[in-house]
Amino acid sequence: MIKWNSWTRNLGACVLVTALVLPITLESAAAATPATSNGASTSTSVTSSAYSSDGGSAASMVATSATTPVNTDLPNIKILATGGTIAGSSTSNTDVTGYQAGALGIDALINAVPEMKDIANVSGEQIANVGSPDIDNAVLLKLAKRINELLASDDVDGVVVTHGTDTLEETAYFLNLVVKSKKPVVVVGAMRPATAISADGPFNLYNAVKIAGTPEASGKGVMIELNDRIGAARYITKTNTTGTDTFKSTEQGYLGVVSGDKVYFYNEPTRKHTADTVFDISKLTELPQVDILYEYENNGSYLYDAAVAAGAKGIVVAGSGNGSLSKLSKAGALKAIASGTAIVRSTRTGSGVVTHSDEDDQNGMISSDSLNPQKARILLMLALTQTKDPKQIQTFFDQY
Ligand code: SIN
Repeated sequence: MIKWNSWTRNLGACVLVTALVLPITLESAAAATPATSNGASTSTSVTSSAYSSDGGSAASMVATSATTPVNTDLPNIKILATGGTIAGSSTSNTDVTGYQAGALGIDALINAVPEMKDIANVSGEQIANVGSPDIDNAVLLKLAKRINELLASDDVDGVVVTHGTDTLEETAYFLNLVVKSKKPVVVVGAMRPATAISADGPFNLYNAVKIAGTPEASGKGVMIELNDRIGAARYITKTNTTGTDTFKSTEQGYLGVVSGDKVYFYNEPTRKHTADTVFDISKLTELPQVDILYEYENNGSYLYDAAVAAGAKGIVVAGSGNGSLSKLSKAGALKAIASGTAIVRSTRTGSGVVTHSDEDDQNGMISSDSLNPQKARILLMLALTQTKDPKQIQTFFDQY
């Protein structure tokens, strides 16, 4: 017998309510191909009967709070949904790996946590509805532009982004570099789909809204909330394939925690972010192609040639140890540099600083500081919108 948890029951109820009483205001018609949790795109519709009317269809892209009375004592928080496991659904409530990510729409997520109305005036928009491996540069630009637009308004006090956890840190770091506001932005996900026993999404979403509505959260850059921890987008990373405590900030620590329904901050991000960066995406319609190459024994030069031939303007190398490259890999990198491609040395170790050397300066290479390869890629894309000069790009890696 299926024992539905309260998240599931609320979702089922809200889908019904949405269909019966809510006016349909289409805020966004983002192309939204649902994806399986392993990232493969699929056109399979949601099979759980509780959600079958809400599978990321146009009808699910509804601003549910347009009809909600506003409590002027509460902060106004906008939730922008992009998909992921937090919007994931399965026919089995013990299924935490084979479910469909990005299956539920924003109205279902909001209405399933009615407690949010006690802490904020929430309204939502659907930006995309995909598994996060399918978040691309177009979605990043669309999301960031919308956040900048919303936060420029006096009517919005903070933004929460719901997102798949696989690439969540990349989107959060991108936003950390391009959002031009000190108002709180919190990116939130879940490790268990909405249909699972003990799904973590509802409380994560509630906590994220709570943080976004907390005045002390202003000026802290883009934050990530899962498992009651508040992480800085610059420092936190996904460390485990399936555990709910996957997001860790082991070297630099968390910014704070949510505990007993209160938000506690203990640390500040030290690197420049949001309103203090030079990056302006307001007029950008695309970002330069930057690829990541992984260092390993017996590797060659040819992947550099392939990346350059495919249009890469920058390459991040997930080097061994302190960003080391084999002789052949280095030869490929130098050839790429000679053709005008920027090369950043990061590390595959998972933590630590890739230290800058005189040899880097001689070779025109950039070192990633403590940015992991996937975040170094985000910064290099933005850096290349400003300059091709490796020395100047290095200053961005030193500051951000
Ligand atoms: C995804 O990243 O979209 C799937 C996995 C998750 O959200 O935890």
